[in-house]
Formats: sequence, C-alpha cells, structure tokens
Amino acid sequence: MKENTIYLDNSATTKPYEEVMQAFMAVNEQYYANPSSIHTMGVEANELLMRAREQVANILHTEAKNVLFTSGGTESNNTAIFGLAHGNTHKGNHILTTEIEHPSVLESVKQLEKEGFEIEYLQVDNMGVVSLDELRQKVRKDTILVSMMHVNNEMGAIQPIFEAAKIIHEASRAAFHVDAVQSFGKLPLTFNEDEGPDCITISGHKIHGFKGSGILAFRKKMQWQPYALGGGQEFGLRSGTVAVPQAVALSKAARIAIETMSERAKKYRNWQDEICTELKKYGDAVTILSTPQGAPHILSFSIRDLKGEIMINAFQKRGVIVSTSSACSSKQTKTSHVVEALNIDEHFKKGVIRISFGAHVTDEDIAQFKQVLHEVLMELKGEYVL
Ligand SMILES: Cc1ncc(COP(=O)(O)O)c(C=O)c1O
Repeated sequence: MKENTIYLDNSATTKPYEEVMQAFMAVNEQYYANPSSIHTMGVEANELLMRAREQVANILHTEAKNVLFTSGGTESNNTAIFGLAHGNTHKGNHILTTEIEHPSVLESVKQLEKEGFEIEYLQVDNMGVVSLDELRQKVRKDTILVSMMHVNNEMGAIQPIFEAAKIIHEASRAAFHVDAVQSFGKLPLTFNEDEGPDCITISGHKIHGFKGSGILAFRKKMQWQPYALGGGQEFGLRSGTVAVPQAVALSKAARIAIETMSERAKKYRNWQDEICTELKKYGDAVTILSTPQGAPHILSFSIRDLKGEIMINAFQKRGVIVSTSSACSSKQTKTSHVVEALNIDEHFKKGVIRISFGAHVTDEDIAQFKQVLHEVLMELKGEYVL
C-alpha cells in the first residue's frame, strides 16, 4: 500500500489498533500455553482468557459463561444457526430470516432447508428495512429461530431489532439471533435481562481487531446443539483449543470500540452528510442507497450506467480505496442480492460503490475523497454529470 493511500473500505475489514497488536504479541510471547492445560503456564493462559471473557461480558451486559470466542463472524453465524436449529427441533422446524443477510447466514439456512427445516424470508423496503407487520404475520408458534442482521453490510440499513425481539418473544419460543458484525462499536447494543436479542455475532476484524477472531454471545443459557465437536472447550459449546492471544486482542478492540463509539459515530455521520451533499450536486446521474436513518459508517451510492469495477479502478489510480457493494460479492459479476432486494432502477444496479469509515480515517482524507470523486466523475461521465 502506498504511504498516502486513503482507505475507505472499513466495512470489508479494518486496520488493527496499535494497542491490539501489542497485546496480541505480548500474549503470544509469554502466555502461549494451552489454556486447558493444568500446569502453571496453562492456568496463567486460562486466567488471561477468563479476564478477556469477563471484559466482553461486561460490555455486552451478560455473564462470562455466555461469551464464546470463535474464529470470526462466519463461524459465529454458522454456530448460532445450526446450533439453535438442531437443538430446538422438539419445538418446531420453522425458521425466519431476511432476504438481505450476509452469505454466512443465507448459506446456513439454505443448508437447513435441505435438511427439512422450513425457511421463510422477510422482505425489505427500498430503504433496506424489514416490515414489523410482515414479521408479526410470519412468526408462528413453531418458529424456533429468527436470524436478523442489525446493520446491513452493503448499504447500512438498520433493522429494528428491539421491536422485532418483542414481537418474536410474544408470539413464539423462538431464539432471536442478531448478526451484529456491522453494528457492534457503531451503534449501542447490549443484552437486556428481559428483552431484546438472545444471541449476537461479533467479528474482530471489523472493529480494528484481527481477522479470524469473533464472538458469539448469549443473553442467557440457551438450548442448543454444539456445532464444532471435539475437546469440549468453551463450555462444551465450541470445541477447539482457544486462541488466547486473539481473545485478549479482541476484548481490547471491543473495549476501545465502546469507549470511542459516540465520538466516532458523530464524526462518521458528519462525513456521510458532507459526501451526500456533494453527491447530490450530480443530480440524477447519482443515486444514494444509504439513508440518513442508516448506520453512520457506511455510504453506498451508484452512478448511472457505470460499472462498479471501473469506478474502483479510477479511485484506486488516485490513491483512494473504495469497494463495490460488499467485499464478498465484489468478485462476482452478478448484481448483489441486497441491491436486487432494494429494487433500484436498472441503470444503477451495476455501479454500486460502498465507502466505509473507520477509526484511522481523517477529515483531510474526506476532503481529498470529495476532490477525487469529482475528478473520477468528470473522467468517466464528463460534462454529462454537471
Ligand atoms: C454482516 C456480516 N456478517 C458476517 C460477516 C462475516 O464475518 P467474518 O469475515 O468475520 O467471517 C461479515 C463480513 O463481511 C458481515 O459484514
């Protein structure tokens, strides 16, 4: 990466915080023993692990025994969905999710469908938000699981998860899983003893921690079948030698994320507003997919009849890193399922660009981005956009 590159792809991944890297190195150097071992070194590693777990539990308002460390958002989503579905077949076999989930949820429920579970998808409106009325109609006595993302990774729509939890819990005995990969550290989210989501997924690399680290946390003890079988680590719920350095690093990243959340969110929202004002100058050559009601760190927009890859290259040539609607779908040529669900005009479907802010972005980066945006649009669309 060139020294003065402007990185605006923080929803794909973030640069780890310096303190997080230091914590990771220190634990690897001194506390590398297996935390399940009974010798002193193992006990010390386990103490560190327990401290990291306590810290995450305090942040989320749950008990330490309800926090599992995993290898990331994908594993946490898979574990929650398979574990809660297979562990609750005595209550029913109906599962609800939304049409704009991350592939780690959509592919999991597709697999469950092959196993005989009944899956239904909630639609979203053109702002990317589900309808609580549709949820009310679809949730049933035999619904055993509802999985809904908090913030959409492609355009930032926020789902009304607290209102949804109320509806789900009043009408069924279903577990409510929330993929909070894009919301943790950007929006307030904690468990509540009596209400709200039952289970949430967090990914380390989206909050300036490491790739390959994640959390699956519960509000209370849940009925479920372990997904990864083996040595019975993580209270028997997620086997595999626990990666203590990752867990410690992640707990540190989570603490910094929470401590800096309101200040960052304010900054991100201002940048989002500034760039939207700029985009609106290009009239109907541009459509903005993100809404002011969405998450502050994501801004998705599209340029009429332009391909996303062409835009990305034009930005990259000028030292600015942006992405198409999501990192997962950016190598695929078909339109993303989220863009399809939003029902936008055909002319804008191929040109969706996502910019996403992180803790290392500065005001100067945003000023430079706006300048580059103008240059790119003039190069690719010429006078037409003005
Ligand atoms: C909403 C959402 N869920 C899940 C994931 C998967 O997380 P991970 O990359 O840690 O497996 C991502 C990653 O992009 C995401 O944005």
